[in-house]
Amino acid sequence: MTLTELLPSLGCEAADRLDQDVWPKSTRLGSGGELLFAGAPVSHLAARFGTPAYLIDEVEVREHARAYRAALPEAEVAYASKALCTKSVLRWVAEEGMSLDTCSAGEIAVARSVGFPADRILLHGNAKTPEDLKAALGYGVRRIVLDSLDEIEQLGALASHRQQVMLRVTPNVKADTHVAITTGTEGQKFGFSLLPTVRDNLDRAVAAVLAQPSLELVGLHCHIGSQVSRVDRYEEAARKMIEVLAYVRDAYGVTLRDLDLGGGHAVSYLPGQSEFDLGGYARRLRVALGYECSVQGFPLPHLTIEPGRAIVGPAGITVYRVCAVKNGSKTFVAVDGGMSDNPRPALYGARYAARLVGRHSQAARRPVVIVGRHCESGDVLAENLSLPSDIHAGDLLAVPCTGAYHHSMASNYNQIGRPPLVGVRDGVATLLVRRETDEDLLSRDLG
Ligand code: LLP
Repeated sequence: MTLTELLPSLGCEAADRLDQDVWPKSTRLGSGGELLFAGAPVSHLAARFGTPAYLIDEVEVREHARAYRAALPEAEVAYASKALCTKSVLRWVAEEGMSLDTCSAGEIAVARSVGFPADRILLHGNAKTPEDLKAALGYGVRRIVLDSLDEIEQLGALASHRQQVMLRVTPNVKADTHVAITTGTEGQKFGFSLLPTVRDNLDRAVAAVLAQPSLELVGLHCHIGSQVSRVDRYEEAARKMIEVLAYVRDAYGVTLRDLDLGGGHAVSYLPGQSEFDLGGYARRLRVALGYECSVQGFPLPHLTIEPGRAIVGPAGITVYRVCAVKNGSKTFVAVDGGMSDNPRPALYGARYAARLVGRHSQAARRPVVIVGRHCESGDVLAENLSLPSDIHAGDLLAVPCTGAYHHSMASNYNQIGRPPLVGVRDGVATLLVRRETDEDLLSRDLG
């Protein structure tokens, strides 16, 4: 028997600390089991905006943006808008001097709606539609990252002025992350291969761009994957990319000045999970680039990086209400959301922390499984999580680190409307995106 089992109150005390590595920096424990998020009581926010709801701390988003810009003042830091693309978030990052990585006409439309400076926008994607390309040209985005020979031809035909482009390269660097978000190795769909034996390889792509009078090749891009915690993988990618830049110079006589190393920097979803060492990354990248450039006799390139998750992920939480508790061979705590507001567990086997909010419980803790309300057994948010044994329907639960790829990947599965996004700053909450209603869902269905 453990000490906590002998003295349940001890368990409460121990568990009533906040694991500051997974909760947003502004989160505090209030009295009576309250959780304060950016100065606002989470149970009040739940009462006002309903559940489930995504909460995002504006100050923390801005702090992450500033930390990146301070760590790499020589680089252009582009926020990867796929992580969370709303008008307000794009306004915040624009105000913080970030550039923007977009990957669709839709993301460009949001950027355009807030007047995000077009000369700070990039467009990505392995398969851009004519609408994506036209939206980028129409708004005048500065750089388009091309990813197939077809696309080079299509953009070449569409562009009426000289459009700056980069080529996405597969550097063949392992990111040590989930296979579904590994993007820098051979055998996945992104980038031009460096292998001479592959038909759509970098050589063909460079020659094809240089042959298009309406395209100006300015640089190379790579993105090795997402939720990557190993800084040495980025050093490896950086060195490889300088070698490739030097190869392009030697083979084609063009010195490309732009190098984009993508994003993918890891955050902590669970206590103890290693997060990204931004300071170490900046230092080691600088050394790796400097060294490889001097070896290759290549000028230091204009560097762009594209963090998404690291800017917004840790700044967000989701608040759910417990619908039911079922005691079977395991204790299942079912909440009023699930895989429609967070598909990451089903897609990547991701797991989350969670805590009871809004009441203080003296009850002993026991392991529970937190599940969603969707009609699938894989709809599991957290496993082996220790929660007070008196948890019951109507309780509130908060889940940390949900600012990235939750709102942006939410679906209407089971005809459940997507949750609202609430921005909180210094205790003041603002509804940024409203909850999707049954009327919203029905309005698209034309019968
Ligand atoms: N740049 C490019 C070209 C990308 O494809 C991505 C992410 C990023 C930057 C930003 O990566 P970040 O810093 O946010 O990790 N839905 C997955 C993540 C997929 C990311 C796809 N591309 C997830 O929930 O983990």
